[in-house]
Amino acid sequence: MKTNNVIVALDVGTSKTVALVGDIDELGDLTIIGYGEAKTKGIDKGLISNPNDVIRSIKEALVQASNSSGVKISSVIANLGGFHIEFRNEADFLSFGTAQKDITDFDISTLSQKVKEKIEEEQHKLIHIIPKRFILDDENEVVEPVNCLASKLEGEFHIILTKLNTYSNLKRVIEMTGVKVADFVSNAVASATSTIFDEEKEMGVLLIDIGGGTTDYTVIGPNSYEYTASLPLGGNNITLDISHRFKIPKKDAEKIKVEYGLATLEALESEKEIEVYPIGSEQPIYISHYELVDTIEARLEQIFTLVKEDLEKAQVFEKVNGGVVLTGGVANTPYIKDLAYDIFKADVRIGKPTNYKGFSDKINSPQYATAVGIMLFKKNSFKQIEFDMMENTGSDFVGIVKKILDKIKSIF
Ligand SMILES: Nc1ncnc2c1ncn2[C@@H]1O[C@H](COP(=O)(O)OP(=O)(O)OP(=O)(O)O)[C@@H](O)[C@H]1O
Ligand SMILES: [Mg+2]
Repeated sequence: MKTNNVIVALDVGTSKTVALVGDIDELGDLTIIGYGEAKTKGIDKGLISNPNDVIRSIKEALVQASNSSGVKISSVIANLGGFHIEFRNEADFLSFGTAQKDITDFDISTLSQKVKEKIEEEQHKLIHIIPKRFILDDENEVVEPVNCLASKLEGEFHIILTKLNTYSNLKRVIEMTGVKVADFVSNAVASATSTIFDEEKEMGVLLIDIGGGTTDYTVIGPNSYEYTASLPLGGNNITLDISHRFKIPKKDAEKIKVEYGLATLEALESEKEIEVYPIGSEQPIYISHYELVDTIEARLEQIFTLVKEDLEKAQVFEKVNGGVVLTGGVANTPYIKDLAYDIFKADVRIGKPTNYKGFSDKINSPQYATAVGIMLFKKNSFKQIEFDMMENTGSDFVGIVKKILDKIKSIF
């Protein structure tokens, strides 16, 4: 097997850790050739609470992915999420004197670097600097300025940051399993990359990834990301709510939630008692289906309302005309679309990962949007990668992207 066009995505989630081995062919198409998954232990609300447990989960997923693909894994591209994620929208410019010049990739990198230096803060780590739009000579707005003539290049960028210690802890824990972290992709950006269609971006779309411990969300407009944030709430909170309300262990609460859970009371056809056999017991307990759904609805309503209020406060919600896309494991809750519609008053759909081949029997579900998206993001965002190359020389992936870029350049 050729190893130079293989990349490995590692999604260390609060509930599960997924490792995918992907092969990018000469046309840039992605085929998943290896898959591994382990229950995550040692992460709470997106932050590491027990490093040794996290290391064990990562190792398990990586070993499975390596065995199923036959690829020896030496470096990975990992996810970063959680409530330490922040964003800034920043602009800056380069002046080239009075004469016009051909804008090059190097100019874009120089401008990105200038913006990066401006926002770099001691306790933060920059994860993404994604171009939004460029303005040439104060008047001509373009998405792709390379090869245009101008004497002044202005650029706007969406920048995603996290706390330096969150980043360092996760990187350290992953590297303690014996692999290098070539790069990070944020949860929201990864999930959006594998689920959102161009038509939705043109209208303005809100992506919400509700996982076990975090709800990562982002608004994407016609050119780029507008707003990115995260809440320390997710499906685990629903499980805990059920566990507290019915005084049952978390394991039973999780089982009942997945088996009988609905997102809204409106979907409940008739009230009945659910007979539940707690794990390891022969004595059934009886739970009101109404109260179960009421518990789930209350927590989901809170999550959606917090997202909406945050976006309204920032005056970004008005840009969401292309609807809402729900992903992450909690998006599997029956009738969640209806509840989201009631709150956002916008079209809602469930986002599953797209644009890949292989292992679709395993990963064609919302909870794999991040892992597949990590690969697609790194494959697609050439600008981002050129910028990253300055920081991550030596990663296998840089070689692949260089090849793809050379190929594309040779086609045009
Ligand atoms: N069919 C289902 N119905 C309801 N909830 C579900 C269903 N399937 C999965 N979930 C919930 O989804 C959550 C896990 O989602 P996911 O796998 O996306 O999380 P994660 O990526 O590990 O965590 P995070 O992104 O928050 O760090 C769990 O709380 C789980 O109970
Ligand atoms: Mg996740």
